[in-house]
Amino acid sequence: MSGAVIIGAGPGIGQAVARRFAAAGLPVALIARSEPTLRAAADAVGAGGVPVVTVQADSTDRAGLDAALDTVVGKHGVPDVAVYNAALVRADSLGELSVQGHLEAWAVNVVGALNAAAHLAPAMAARRSGTFLITGGMPEPKPQYVSLSLGKAGVRTLVALLHQQYGGSGVHVASITVDGPIAPGTDFDPDDIAEHYWRLHTQPPHLWDHEVLHAGRSR
Ligand SMILES: NC(=O)c1ccc[n+]([C@@H]2O[C@H](COP(=O)([O-])OP(=O)(O)OC[C@H]3O[C@@H](n4cnc5c(N)ncnc54)[C@H](OP(=O)(O)O)[C@@H]3O)[C@@H](O)[C@H]2O)c1
Repeated sequence: MSGAVIIGAGPGIGQAVARRFAAAGLPVALIARSEPTLRAAADAVGAGGVPVVTVQADSTDRAGLDAALDTVVGKHGVPDVAVYNAALVRADSLGELSVQGHLEAWAVNVVGALNAAAHLAPAMAARRSGTFLITGGMPEPKPQYVSLSLGKAGVRTLVALLHQQYGGSGVHVASITVDGPIAPGTDFDPDDIAEHYWRLHTQPPHLWDHEVLHAGRSR
């Protein structure tokens, strides 16, 4: 079993998804930019008793991410499931951000996922199995969150492109669109949200969903 890799393994959805896959017995690889993020995530997952590897990388640095993913593949093999969870979340109104500001947000929100998929999806396709999941949001664009709305729309299109390219080779690509602020014990509990990732990963090909909307437990 080659396991799960979580890119953007922070304390919210990232850790919850990592714990969910670990609970199913999958070895887990965690990627984030900072050591404290990785240490906290490894501690949270480590209690599950599965092998855990952590690698520091910025998903917008393609060479750095490639090297990190090579390390992960070297330790655990080509992942069964990869989750791109990193995002640059900030409130910005129409016309507020500089071009550079938009490029920085787009790089994390969309291009980082593309970088990860460009590295992993061909290997999954060669094996004829694998799941590539991206955390989305903003089912409807919001003028208070322009760069994030654009980025999450980009995620949706990226999922479609990846499915067109790799779906026929057994790679299940999907996004999980979270429509609200996550917090434990609420309708947006990260552990509840993490169940979507597990369900998507275990769907047989004829039942593949390509987007799941989490709009709260009660709806
Ligand atoms: N939080 C919410 O209320 C909410 C609501 C709807 C949707 N979402 C979506 O859910 C996803 C996760 O959000 P979350 O708040 O729960 O985050 P999280 O899982 O707690 O953490 C994400 C982690 O990604 C890492 N990261 C950020 N940029 C990165 C980069 N360029 N390369 C590598 N790692 C990077 C950060 O750690 P380092 O700083 O150490 O790199 C951060 O801790 C995002 O896609 C977000 O848009 C969140």
